[in-house]
Amino acid sequence: MTPPGPDLRHHGDVEATPGLVDLAVNVRAGAPPAWLREVLHAAVDASASYPDPRRARAAVAAAHDRPEDEVLLTAGAAETFTLVARALAPRRAVVVHPSFTEPEAALRAHRHPVERHLLAPPSYLLTPPPADADLVVLGNPTNPTSVLHPADDVAALCRPGRTVVLDEAFADTDPGEPQSLAGRRDLPGLLVVRSLTKTWGLAGLRVGYALGPPELVAALAAVQPHWPVSTPALAALEACAGAATTPWAHELAAHRQALLDLLPDGVRVVGQPRSSFVLLQVPDADRVRQRLREAGYAVRRGDTFPGLEPDHLRVAVRDPATSAGFAAALAAALG
Ligand SMILES: Cc1ncc(COP(=O)(O)O)c(C=O)c1O
Repeated sequence: MTPPGPDLRHHGDVEATPGLVDLAVNVRAGAPPAWLREVLHAAVDASASYPDPRRARAAVAAAHDRPEDEVLLTAGAAETFTLVARALAPRRAVVVHPSFTEPEAALRAHRHPVERHLLAPPSYLLTPPPADADLVVLGNPTNPTSVLHPADDVAALCRPGRTVVLDEAFADTDPGEPQSLAGRRDLPGLLVVRSLTKTWGLAGLRVGYALGPPELVAALAAVQPHWPVSTPALAALEACAGAATTPWAHELAAHRQALLDLLPDGVRVVGQPRSSFVLLQVPDADRVRQRLREAGYAVRRGDTFPGLEPDHLRVAVRDPATSAGFAAALAAALG
């Protein structure tokens, strides 16, 4: 089924062509750290055997204080969206937008009818989707708006008879993760989706996991290919489970503020950014984006996200020196 409107399979990696400063993909710069690369190299050396997920699953379960049968290890968060589409037969599937588009793309690829629940500017904060939706998908913090919904508002979506797929791929960009629901076992039908891609710089490894009720985890596992997660990915899960991310998240918050302070006149910041990227509104954004590319900077176009407009651009938070260079290029591009 062809999705209406924008290309749901357009992602920032297409825009981050070699030679440009990459502000289009929200993977942490400078990662994976050296200690994690050593873990990965050792795991490649140990890859002659088929992968054994037991230690990694136990580590993830312990990190979130949950039983092991509530943990599904996956080849990235993206795999979970496909497993959900494969395993469930929703009567009324609703995807909260603007948000990462793969969940909707996966549902459509499996021929499920999908409705969009559009959050409104200027805050893009969560509003209740239709009460009879039996599948609700949303992200928190949300890509591309960088908005962080209060945990209570997200928890209020859960109810018997409904599955809530909560994409927390960026959860650890919020220091201490107070709005995360990853540890909540009391909420019916809640599936929390996590990724190692962003924080640990492992986009190419394909590694993540999902947390939810045992029967839902089992249903998703039943439609997963055998040996879905490679030995190096399992080693990364074991090594990163419970590793401290809060100091980095604090540094990220300072870098985000630095970027916001540097932005030139004529640029509007959307909502209240709380993650590793900011959403901007600039006049004539397509031309500005092209000019930025000529100046050496790749930013993410906004118009392929349902609910955004052609004047939106998403920009990754980097160190202040990189942001200063970008801000100068943006001022020139606007001029
Ligand atoms: C909000 C969000 N969720 C999930 C993903 C995919 O994560 P993974 O690389 O673990 O599949 C992305 C990638 O851009 C994303 O932005």
